[in-house]
Amino acid sequence: MAVISFTLNGQTQTVDAVPDMPLLWLLRDTLALTGTKYGCGIAQCGACTVHIDGAPVRSCVIPIAGIEGKKITTIEGLSSPIAQSVQRAWLESDVPQCGYCQSGQIMSATALLAQKSQPTDADIDSAMNGNICRCGTYQAIREAIHRAADYVATNEKDGGVA
Ligand code: FES
Ligand code: FES
Repeated sequence: MAVISFTLNGQTQTVDAVPDMPLLWLLRDTLALTGTKYGCGIAQCGACTVHIDGAPVRSCVIPIAGIEGKKITTIEGLSSPIAQSVQRAWLESDVPQCGYCQSGQIMSATALLAQKSQPTDADIDSAMNGNICRCGTYQAIREAIHRAADYVATNEKDGGVA
């Protein structure tokens, strides 16, 4: 066991846990943050995507020993203006079907827009490539990301923050 301290959704968190436990298990089983989903367990589907220091990562393959001192954001803590634009666009583009992959999709899309405010289709395809959707919502996701980018740009023009 090891004592590990990190920031989770803006709050300092300290756990005493097996250091090679995947972050996904810590989030879901220990901390009851079940918005982050288990899909494949081998970094191939993106359902478990969270942010570490703002970058999207597959939490199913991140041992918790590696999160000491880091800032973790899960879907439950996603509240930035960019994230709010993404969530609004997701609803308006009617993206989710079964919903299982969607928290991972939103985490990846938010990280993309934080890096690139007006992504091209190619940028979107590249950034979202590792997020699999068995319901085939890819076209709606692409539309929603463009829509979210427009909301962010409008907010900035109107003096909001993004
Ligand atoms: S569960 Fe982590 S990438 Fe599939
Ligand atoms: S909405 Fe069903 S897996 Fe993506």
